[in-house]
Amino acid sequence: MPTTTQHELRLASRMSRLGTETAFEVLNRARALEKKGREIIHLEIGEPDFDTPANIIEAGIDALYMGWTHYGPAAGLPDLRQAIADYVSRTRKVPVASEEVVVVPGGKPIIFFTVLALIDAGDEVIYPNPGFPIYESMINYVGGRAVAIPLREERDFSVDVRELASLISDRTKLVILNSPHNPTGGTLTKNDILEIAEAIGDRNILILSDEIYSRLIFEGEHFSIMSVPGFKERTILLDGFSKTYAMTGWRMGYGVMRPDLAVPIARLMTNSTSCTASFTQVAGIAALRGDQSSVNKMCAEFKRRRDAFVAGLNKIKGFSCRTPKGAFYVFPNITKTGWPSKKLADTLLDEAGVACLSGTAFGEYGEGYLRFSVANSLENLNTALTKIEDWAGRNLR
Ligand SMILES: Cc1ncc(COP(=O)(O)O)c(C=O)c1O
Repeated sequence: MPTTTQHELRLASRMSRLGTETAFEVLNRARALEKKGREIIHLEIGEPDFDTPANIIEAGIDALYMGWTHYGPAAGLPDLRQAIADYVSRTRKVPVASEEVVVVPGGKPIIFFTVLALIDAGDEVIYPNPGFPIYESMINYVGGRAVAIPLREERDFSVDVRELASLISDRTKLVILNSPHNPTGGTLTKNDILEIAEAIGDRNILILSDEIYSRLIFEGEHFSIMSVPGFKERTILLDGFSKTYAMTGWRMGYGVMRPDLAVPIARLMTNSTSCTASFTQVAGIAALRGDQSSVNKMCAEFKRRRDAFVAGLNKIKGFSCRTPKGAFYVFPNITKTGWPSKKLADTLLDEAGVACLSGTAFGEYGEGYLRFSVANSLENLNTALTKIEDWAGRNLR
């Protein structure tokens, strides 16, 4: 037998700059503990615990039988692009044409493709910190300079516009906004957005506006920077089906952008996944054009759970928690426990059987916080509160 050498794996150097999403790692750790017989309450992962509404599932099944099982156009099926254009025109109150829409497998690829298409080495991107970890990961991956705009609790986790203005430089090419916000549940009001728009002014800076939680808002109304006069042309709107219609596993989202950017973004689709699955896109048309009552019901249920969970956390020694205005996360301040965030999150999983995320999973400004997802039953949320309270009683002075 000839001997074979175990060759060293030589990854491209850019791979050392690629980050990750800790939620999936914590989920794996929690599942490993469950395999050993431990009971774990899952408050780590960011997906609705509801089933996809029946009308959407039926549309997907019918589409499979009707033969929507083939490749489709890279930018999405024309009928879905039109349905999205109509939906965005109506909700953001700006006229959007179907050529401005690119359908992709989930909201995430819009982040991936936008950064890949726009950012050269040394270009600066301003992004929220704490924030969805994929922003910083992708900026670093392509060799851009990730410029953090800290979101602070005392401002209810909104953007400090003066600080934003001070971070803008001649190298700034992209500003990322996210409202409602993961991980804090903070929202940007119309007034906040108008001030941000004023700070950006007439510069040639694009805005990636991540509005994936736009339908999960408990107080006030969602307002997009795309609606500000002069900003539609500079905005890449990210939205999708995962959170709104409980369709995380279907993998379908979209970007809305100027047509001359939609073409290269669609080319990145051609070079990566070819197209979003055709039958899921047909179901997407049913989601946007069909009955919306399930979305409203889900939102009302998240609000009920948020209220109960925030009230419960505020009774626990060392925890203090603001009431988030959107999404399905709560982000308590845990500095008074005296524990660093990561160690506390790990220990709550190991010793209390509650899986949550360290605020630092969302960037350095997340130190001092934990993120809990309330996408779990009220019963489980109450059990989690009891377990955390018992743990705190035993371990905190
Ligand atoms: C802020 C934010 N943007 C984008 C996404 C990606 O969504 P999708 O699952 O549709 O790719 C998520 C998912 O957690 C998110 O929290």
